[in-house]
Amino acid sequence: MRYGQPSRTALGAARARALHQTREAAAVFADPLAEAIAGAVDAAVGPADDDRPLPDDARLFLAMRHRFAEDALAAVADRIEQVVILGAGLDTFGYRNPYPGLRVFEVDHPATQQWKRERLADAGIAVPSAVRFVPVDFETDTLAASLAAAGFDRSAPTFFVWLGVIVYLTPESVTATLRFIAEHSARTEVVFDYSGPISALPPQHRPMAERLTRVMDELGEPWLSLFTPEEIAGQLHSLGFSQIEDLDRRGLFERYAPGTPTDDVVGGRVLHAAHPGHP
Ligand SMILES: C[S@@+](CC[C@H](N)C(=O)[O-])C[C@H]1O[C@@H](n2cnc3c(N)ncnc32)[C@H](O)[C@@H]1O
Repeated sequence: MRYGQPSRTALGAARARALHQTREAAAVFADPLAEAIAGAVDAAVGPADDDRPLPDDARLFLAMRHRFAEDALAAVADRIEQVVILGAGLDTFGYRNPYPGLRVFEVDHPATQQWKRERLADAGIAVPSAVRFVPVDFETDTLAASLAAAGFDRSAPTFFVWLGVIVYLTPESVTATLRFIAEHSARTEVVFDYSGPISALPPQHRPMAERLTRVMDELGEPWLSLFTPEEIAGQLHSLGFSQIEDLDRRGLFERYAPGTPTDDVVGGRVLHAAHPGHP
């Protein structure tokens, strides 16, 4: 990320969610605040360049990973007390949270989070008192200390949402965050997405992945962590996670957009896992 500036990829993801509301009529993921916050983004920095539009299937993948996360959250909403959105970007869950009593901790890089708070104000989106903003740089700050300072309770059942972030972190930072999620006394669940090494992709998908890699480098947000499903499963099992559901792009499209030809769709994998805690 460029020093002191908001994450450019967070802006792109927010615009994609807004476009999904109109282009696909929110067919996969309905976010009634997506257009308002994307409008505030455009008003602040100008509309997105049209010379690098996100392909339709990439936009759908972003919608699907949110749908997957919020469906998993909905299934346990009556049993959890806290949600932590790691690398929240311009995510709007906290301001449309339908679950009374659920505390929401938004964790993000300080520059992106401050910038987001200004855009929320521009858009007139009210921030409920259940939302806590927690500025954290995953590479240099301690997540546990920052969350504790914001009132986070490690003995309360918690759901972590970590979308579009892992690829931008170092492998050490990814492992440290997974370990933090695993070291609660109460049950925790996590949904995150990740991507595999380009060399492991089918040959026809490699040019697109290589192009994306170059775009991310130019944006100052290079891809630092790519994992195979076996590597991720190995880490999760060794930390005590279980009930792992790991969907590739084909599985996501079959679930959320059945009938779409999936041979050439782009996108990473989305995973849901649970940890029983250490009572
Ligand atoms: C592609 S955006 C995803 C945002 C959001 N989760 C979404 O799905 O729209 C990547 C997010 O990761 C955050 N991020 C990247 N590196 C980070 C770091 N070292 N510490 C904290 N946040 C980081 C960025 O600030 C940004 O919000």
